[in-house]
Amino acid sequence: MEKEKPIGVFDSGVGGLTVVKRLISALPNESIVYFGDTARVPYGSKSNETVIEYSIQNTKFLLQKNVKAVVVACNTASSIAIEVLKKEFDVPIIGMIEPGAKSALATTQNKKIGVIGTRATINNKAYSNQLLKLNEKLEVFEKACPLFVPLAEEGWIEHKATYEIAEEYLRELREKDIDTLILGCTHYPILSKVIQQVIGKNVNLIDSGVAASEIVRQEIERIGLSTNSSAKGNVSLYVSDISTNFKSIAELFLGQNVDEIIKVDVENI
Ligand code: DGL
Repeated sequence: MEKEKPIGVFDSGVGGLTVVKRLISALPNESIVYFGDTARVPYGSKSNETVIEYSIQNTKFLLQKNVKAVVVACNTASSIAIEVLKKEFDVPIIGMIEPGAKSALATTQNKKIGVIGTRATINNKAYSNQLLKLNEKLEVFEKACPLFVPLAEEGWIEHKATYEIAEEYLRELREKDIDTLILGCTHYPILSKVIQQVIGKNVNLIDSGVAASEIVRQEIERIGLSTNSSAKGNVSLYVSDISTNFKSIAELFLGQNVDEIIKVDVENI
């Protein structure tokens, strides 16, 4: 039955598990099929053409797993490929940018919003374009913070080096009097304690994964595809490469134990 199909989620690697964690909280009875493109990560430093090609392959893989909707957990892929995916595929496709931007707009008081993300997300101005489309009076300040990705994967959640790098990256934003900061990358919620401390306690942090999970809940309810099950949903994890430390990072990001990880080849789908 259509309603009992799982929700598909893809990311460039392990980071999207922070979004899966939010989806499990918002939709505990839904099953999830996750694909992490660990063989080809990072996407944040790749060209738009490549990110689009990979995003199409990843979506095809999830559709083969019979998913009822696709969540693009990767902010970089959401920035670059969401419109192509929506045109190409006939299932609901939900990315991170619009939900994150709407949540920031609903939060800001002084209309000054900061955005941090990968180089690709920031260079494509994905969040600032979306925010200004929602309200042209906003002032948006963006900053790429590429080193946050390896720091999160290293588990350096409160390490001295993470503070120092955050000080360096966030200095300019701190001078802009922002009251809201979008964590525009899958990995950044892992570092939210340091980011909050450095940017200042009065700045509201927006986790796009939280905002997107709520949109996914509303969307599948709207189209009548919410599961009837009252049991806890399953989470199946597929990756394109299993690195030695994948399991421990996955557990840190997901916030729960991981039993099985299946390696797949999505390039030849
Ligand atoms: N998942 C990516 C994002 O949210 C971060 C890692 C990468 O560069 O692939 O933008």
